[in-house]
Amino acid sequence: MKALILSGGKGKRLRPFTYTGAKQLVPVANKPILWYGIESIVAAGIRDIGIVISPETGEEVKAKTGNGDRFGADIQYILQSEPLGLAHAVAIAQQFLQDSPFLLFLGDTLLQSPLEPLLTKFQQQQLDSLLLLCEVNDPRAFGVAKIDENGKLVQMLEKPKDPPSNLALVGVYFFNTSIHAAIASIHPSARGELEITDAIQYLIDTNKKVEVSMLQGWWLDTGRKDDILSANQIILDDLLTSQNLGEVDSTSSISGRVQIGIGSKIINSKIRGPVIIGANCHIEQAYVGPYTSVSDHVTIIDTEIEHSVILNDTVITDIHQRIVDSLIGQRVSMKVSPKRPQALRFMLGDDSQVEIM
Ligand code: TTP
Repeated sequence: MKALILSGGKGKRLRPFTYTGAKQLVPVANKPILWYGIESIVAAGIRDIGIVISPETGEEVKAKTGNGDRFGADIQYILQSEPLGLAHAVAIAQQFLQDSPFLLFLGDTLLQSPLEPLLTKFQQQQLDSLLLLCEVNDPRAFGVAKIDENGKLVQMLEKPKDPPSNLALVGVYFFNTSIHAAIASIHPSARGELEITDAIQYLIDTNKKVEVSMLQGWWLDTGRKDDILSANQIILDDLLTSQNLGEVDSTSSISGRVQIGIGSKIINSKIRGPVIIGANCHIEQAYVGPYTSVSDHVTIIDTEIEHSVILNDTVITDIHQRIVDSLIGQRVSMKVSPKRPQALRFMLGDDSQVEIM
């Protein structure tokens, strides 16, 4: 059994972050989203992993994630020259997949439940495909399944305007080799992509054994800022344990579950967990409130912040209003300037979003 993780794509919905970096590497509770997927695949006993990467962000994914040693896995990288669809990504990975059955996993997906029971069902029932589904409020942005009264999958639709159910594909698919002939027989959709839903429909139409399982627990597709903040909140709630490897002075107060990384200094500040602070951060005269993740080498002085994710090497000083619900990138500088006239001054990348009261 192999796993194929898709970590290419355009990441349009997460711009400006995805101009300079891979969305799958955005940290949630200070760990790249992609790594949660790799860890759960390895926990299910699959060690032979291929990761599909794009020319724009592939090198960064490779450099950060490595050859798999840190996960106890063997990772190979497969370059997809253009994001031509999930089925296209499978097609270009055929040399890696060979004749092996495989798990297809979208690299921007976070799942609470373990993969092992699904793998067992796929193998024991000798299925051609097993798909994971979840009920969502608005299925129009997803691949949607139509199920008959016996619970049998009868139709798959990609982002339908008029969805036949509220059962969305979750980004976890098991396939045997029959998927390759299915992909070879489909054509690009109206949006120019080879759709995995069309290939699954081909499996259904040719009477292959395709089953579905309903997702237990939470699932997050981290394509947008608010999804990342929700993922950060859930992971901090579920997984964070207290640990202090830094220095906290006597005028600071720490409450709730808080993790502080090596070399970080907390001076005259209030930290209310769940909060994770990376290594070599400087937090002074600040309030860091619940559901905040601060990456390495971040400085926060005279500022209040909560329910936010701050990436590495960012400096935030003297902001005399509370920052909330924010995703702040790498090497960002936010400060109050003594310059006259008193005014707001910005240098913001394309697609940045600022809300001021
Ligand atoms: P999506 O989130 O559907 O697509 P995207 O990354 O282009 O994002 P956006 O809609 O914001 O532009 O892709 C799901 C996952 O699959 C994601 O991790 C990117 C990856 N992917 C590929 O690796 N190759 C592809 O051709 C496509 C379409 C996606």
